[in-house]
Amino acid sequence: ATIAAIVPAAGVGSRMQHSVPKQYISLSGKTILQHTLTKLAQLHELVAIHVAVSVDDQYFADLPFIDKRIKRVDGGNERATSVLNGLLSLADNPPKWVLVHDAARPLVTIDDMNALLSYCLTHGEGGILATQVKDTIKRGHTHSEQTIPRDALWQALTPQLFNYRELLQSLQDALAANAVITDEASAMEWANKPVKLVAGRSDNIKITTPEDLDLAEFLLQQQES
Ligand code: C5P
Repeated sequence: ATIAAIVPAAGVGSRMQHSVPKQYISLSGKTILQHTLTKLAQLHELVAIHVAVSVDDQYFADLPFIDKRIKRVDGGNERATSVLNGLLSLADNPPKWVLVHDAARPLVTIDDMNALLSYCLTHGEGGILATQVKDTIKRGHTHSEQTIPRDALWQALTPQLFNYRELLQSLQDALAANAVITDEASAMEWANKPVKLVAGRSDNIKITTPEDLDLAEFLLQQQES
């Protein structure tokens, strides 16, 4: 089965309050996007790695060459539209499966990606890396209104792996219906398609705020040593 990857990397990283978009911040000698692409490039099964970057991105062209499967495509205004553009960029030669992975998650391990690929390909079912919620979760605005039982709560991570045609259709339909789509699984759920939860490491964090940078750098150094 053919598998292609899409990397949404078109965010501006407003919560990072940094001079460059967060995927271009350097940690341990390489930009966050380089770390992420280096991880994906280790998956030899991937036939293409399409990176959705902003149309006015000035930085992508300066990245050192990593792998000949990597191609720049235009991103959109939201993560979901960046992913949609990535899917459409594969339409001429559609793969059976598509693996979507956030540029902002450079800490993903090859073992976790292989666990996801192995489950989905063996069972012919889409799925995502996720981690069971460890904290007590409150619902509320200024005051806590309710504690949500956490035994059936998971935090969604990436990568997320789905049948290419099903994801393209579900995402287009969900966006047309104005559904709230914050990951690929939300579009699949909206279309009543199965989403397997594959337990992954909780240190596969999405680098979002300045506090995440020191932690991510420490974890990257641990992985490299
Ligand atoms: O903003 P957030 O941290 O949720 O972004 C998750 C991923 O989606 C990041 O890798 C970011 O670059 C990407 N993104 C995108 N296009 C957007 C917004 C976010 O590709 N318009």
